Amino acid sequence: MIVQPLTVLDHHHQELRNNGEDVIQGLSQTPKTLSPKYFYDDHGSQLFEKICELPEYYPTRIEAWILQQYADEIAEITRCCELIELGSGSSTKTQIILDAYQKITDFCRYLPIDVSGKILKTSVLELQEKYPDFAIHGLLGTYEQALFHLGSNYLQSRMLFFLGSSLGNFNAEGCDSFLDQVSRTLQPGDYFLLGVDLQKPKDILEAAYNDSQEVTADFNLNVLSHLNWRFQGNFDISLFRHQAIYNEVDNQMEMYLHCEKNHYVSLELLDLQVLFTNGESIMTEISRKFDLATMEKQLDKKGLKTLKSWTDEKGWFGLILCQVE
Ligand code: AVI
Repeated sequence: MIVQPLTVLDHHHQELRNNGEDVIQGLSQTPKTLSPKYFYDDHGSQLFEKICELPEYYPTRIEAWILQQYADEIAEITRCCELIELGSGSSTKTQIILDAYQKITDFCRYLPIDVSGKILKTSVLELQEKYPDFAIHGLLGTYEQALFHLGSNYLQSRMLFFLGSSLGNFNAEGCDSFLDQVSRTLQPGDYFLLGVDLQKPKDILEAAYNDSQEVTADFNLNVLSHLNWRFQGNFDISLFRHQAIYNEVDNQMEMYLHCEKNHYVSLELLDLQVLFTNGESIMTEISRKFDLATMEKQLDKKGLKTLKSWTDEKGWFGLILCQVE
């Protein structure tokens, strides 16, 4: 029997399909914005994997270190049958958790969820080989599609994990409604494991998003190539420059594409023509930096009770294990 490595989520769900309305809205407002989900086409996902290995980009390394220290403890506390990861990418860090589970159980199910089909399929096939006793199946789709799907497919006790501080890429309102959706999707007794990047000096943060090899710059500019491909656009990437600055008032990194010449861009499939002026910027991402105690309180208000949280010795990154009340 051939087991398909992936399920494409809600392919036929009209309201969940990407029709580019968010692009029309984002590029028609002042200042212009684009959703960070457009970073993650296949090439963008590969670039993000490269970012995770950069010396300046500390979050991946520190989170992996925390997981290595405490994964056995997490597995002991949770002992779940179904492990679900939102935004799994290459699932590299997840293997630390799967290894810990392998020590305590003969069987579990791992469902990685990602918007990038190529990286998801590759990692599912690799993991199926590495963990033959576990059932591993990828879900291709957005967070919203995944949470919607999971809500209607409840099987057994679950731990949902959301690592890498991807929560920081939502604004405060988006973060709030995401956590609402998480707590509605999970059942009482289920677990939520959350990785969050913590506040720290500006120079360290800015270096992490302005790396010397300019991989982050390529990652940011790739958004425009992605839009060209997806919506038949004619962005000229050479007319834009990557910028990343720390906003100390809102405690967030902000990534921009700074336009260096007056010109028009059209996106044919969206029937959209946009004027860009020299000196204006498109905001492509915020990456909020959290305070651990405040985050725990916010989770608590959503019925996600912190059982334990861990950090590294510098207090740069936090991992929070919560249980649904
Ligand atoms: C995926 N996300 C948590 C990354 C971050 O740090 O906000 C995306 C990223 N952007 C630039 N570098 C990495």
